[in-house]
Amino acid sequence: MVRIISSYLQRTTLRCIQSMKGQSLPRRFQPIFRLEHTRTLHDEISKPTGSESTATESIDSEPAESAPPESESSESVPVDPSAQWETYNANFIDLRQHQATPLLGYQAGQEVTVHGFISKRRDVSSNLSFCELSNAFDYSSQKNIQIVSTWNEDGSRQFLAHQDLKTIPAYSPVIVTGTLQEPPNTTNKPGSPRRWDLKLRSIHCLNPFPKDIIVSKDAVWPPHQRHLQLRFDPLLRDRLKLRSILQTTISKFLQSKSFIQVETPLLFKSTPEGAREFLVPTRREGYAYALPQSPQQYKQILMASGITRYYQFAKCFRDEDHRADRQPEFTQLDIEMAFASGSDVMKLVSGLLDKIFFLLSGKWSPTEINGIQHPVYVGFDETVSKGPEKKKKKSKGEDQKPPEAGDGITRYPRVQYRDIQFMTYSQVMKHFGTDKPDMRIRPPHITSIRGTTHLNLPQEFIQKITSLEDSYVEMIKIRLDLPPHAAGEFIRKFMDSLPNNTTVKPSPESTPAVLVYDSSKPLNGLSALGHESARKLEEFTGLKESHYHGCKDGDIIIFHARKRETFHGSSTDLGRLRKALYDTAVQQGFIPKDNSFKVIWVTEFPLFTPNGDNADPGQGGTAGFSSTHHPFTAPLTPKDFFSAKYSPLQARADHYDLVINGVEVGGGSRRIHAAKHQEFILRDVLKMTDEGIAEFSHLLEALRAGCPPHAGFAFGFDRFLSVLCDVPSIKDVIAFPKTNKGEDLMVGSPAKITPEQRKTYHMFQESEPEPEPEPKLEPEPEPEPKSEPEQDQGFNA
Ligand code: AMO
Repeated sequence: MVRIISSYLQRTTLRCIQSMKGQSLPRRFQPIFRLEHTRTLHDEISKPTGSESTATESIDSEPAESAPPESESSESVPVDPSAQWETYNANFIDLRQHQATPLLGYQAGQEVTVHGFISKRRDVSSNLSFCELSNAFDYSSQKNIQIVSTWNEDGSRQFLAHQDLKTIPAYSPVIVTGTLQEPPNTTNKPGSPRRWDLKLRSIHCLNPFPKDIIVSKDAVWPPHQRHLQLRFDPLLRDRLKLRSILQTTISKFLQSKSFIQVETPLLFKSTPEGAREFLVPTRREGYAYALPQSPQQYKQILMASGITRYYQFAKCFRDEDHRADRQPEFTQLDIEMAFASGSDVMKLVSGLLDKIFFLLSGKWSPTEINGIQHPVYVGFDETVSKGPEKKKKKSKGEDQKPPEAGDGITRYPRVQYRDIQFMTYSQVMKHFGTDKPDMRIRPPHITSIRGTTHLNLPQEFIQKITSLEDSYVEMIKIRLDLPPHAAGEFIRKFMDSLPNNTTVKPSPESTPAVLVYDSSKPLNGLSALGHESARKLEEFTGLKESHYHGCKDGDIIIFHARKRETFHGSSTDLGRLRKALYDTAVQQGFIPKDNSFKVIWVTEFPLFTPNGDNADPGQGGTAGFSSTHHPFTAPLTPKDFFSAKYSPLQARADHYDLVINGVEVGGGSRRIHAAKHQEFILRDVLKMTDEGIAEFSHLLEALRAGCPPHAGFAFGFDRFLSVLCDVPSIKDVIAFPKTNKGEDLMVGSPAKITPEQRKTYHMFQESEPEPEPEPKLEPEPEPEPKSEPEQDQGFNA
């Protein structure tokens, strides 16, 4: 009824709008029944939303009798005399009269009422049909209730229910009443959702699923039908369930450690914290809010406010270039603690990770579909959940095999506190050429990066690979267990594909030299190195402590030169090459996919990064460098504070990133907690202007009021989930993600604004000239006194 009234009101109102403006109505304003049958499965993803449906049909073409008379008073209840009325009436049901029986109370022989969606019906004979019912209360299991409809007597209650069932289209939401029965030959596993047969007594369709939406096994729903993507992809819903469960687990864990959740404002202001922001215009001319790139400043203010342990699942907004692991709007699990240093925060977060992996391995099973390990909820295995897990001695290669629990279901490998590694920024850059090392990349398949000074490489070899004056040559060794010619073929194709590989982007100063070990060739295929260096290389790789596993036929050795200088930035050419080689070899099946989670803390980042290396706008100072993390990060030691002034690019920070399988899932730091130190960094080191510093005056004021030392961390919650769920993009763990262009095609955002809105919010395009004043042809009459003088006052006067 509500829908009919609102539909009627909408039509009436819109008729007026339309006749006033003489234009067709946007889809979202059209009455809902006009939208039926407008979308098919075959809609193209790129199809513009405006032209894809018959929804643009003019309201004038509607038969006159379907609309109530316009003169009808707003108090009277409209009666729709159209043929649709019967259908509306039949589907209108008062849910209060048909409450679902709580799941926990289910017993065989009991009569229950269940809400859910029905699947396709299977008719076994004229009086026996089966139909799965996905229960609205149990999202984890799609098939835990089966409707069994059978009848013996024509005209009986069961007969009528059977006829009703046959008229209801698959995928419709229904209310079903029936008797619970144990399904024959089924063993209900403890902990997992129970299966039931429901002997049908009555069924009521709540809203028939339309015929024009064709559901098939391989249907690919376009982004503007996100509701159908969610509806027909149980794995996607399982990921959202994991997301929700983790949020609860995390909240419980942090609250048990005296953290409190505090919500901070989303309408913030623009500050030069580092990333590019989104602005929110206001009606006050020249004023705008900025959406927070993170709640960093508010959480530090909380520390100064005596709220010494804070957390929040915070929405963050950054106007950055799109990548698979980025969204303009994303969620952080944001944490801050006072009287704490970086190591206290890392201890806390490591404990939290231990807890999360315990939950994951306890209740979820990695299920491989198209090469992706999807987490599927299976419930606790009673046989392992009784006590703390005892660590077995690992046998060789065991890491690759996921453990099986006592109930025979494959479980996620557990990551315990003690499995988490620590390395400094300069160590990971030296050994892996990246600040996000994927610790699954290991010898014998791919070694770490080693310098080659001890090989005494001939000058002519070095000159061939680099134009750099003061170069430092490094190497890696790759073993794919292929014969030399096949290994050569693999690496040749890989190197040829590099110009198209956007993640590798080799610099023009050095070309990688690739050698394939081949005992049938002179100097085993290493002749480019000359006699002495080839011998030294074989000696070095043969050393047990080099972890280079000797040299054997088919091994690929890559040499690459870089500038001899302190590391800055996030990766080196050889580091990116190493990671891309690993990914390609895994993709092509030459290295087995490692489904374990390798967690590492990368610590002691440089406090500052030269401006050229940083894609973000930074703090806008004139120093030529910006804060690597953000300008509130504390130098690691008093010596680093001194370096900040005299050799800033040498200064290290108490800044740490959490990396899992090569993905930066979080980052944090100890903060500068004294206002005078903070101001010194902003003014004397970053060389920000007075105006820039003034943007942070609220924070400086809070620090000045006896703010305690504090440190914190933020998990990129979407990224973290995408790693746990083994999915290629963070879109796969977000209910309503944005596309590569930052659009939400389901709702059509961002939307064009009207000239009126632009006027209200004082928004003009640069190219747009301000409207010329109308030429005055006649003397103007005296203006009427305005009742609301403030209106429009600020607009482009
Ligand atoms: P940082 O900028 O390192 O630190 O962000 C923390 C984590 O957030 C995730 N992240 C993103 N996820 C999705 N889309 C994006 N566009 C995006 N940008 C970042 C990453 C990253 O590690 N305030 C500090 C934290 C602190 O110091 O406490 C901050 O935001 O996983």
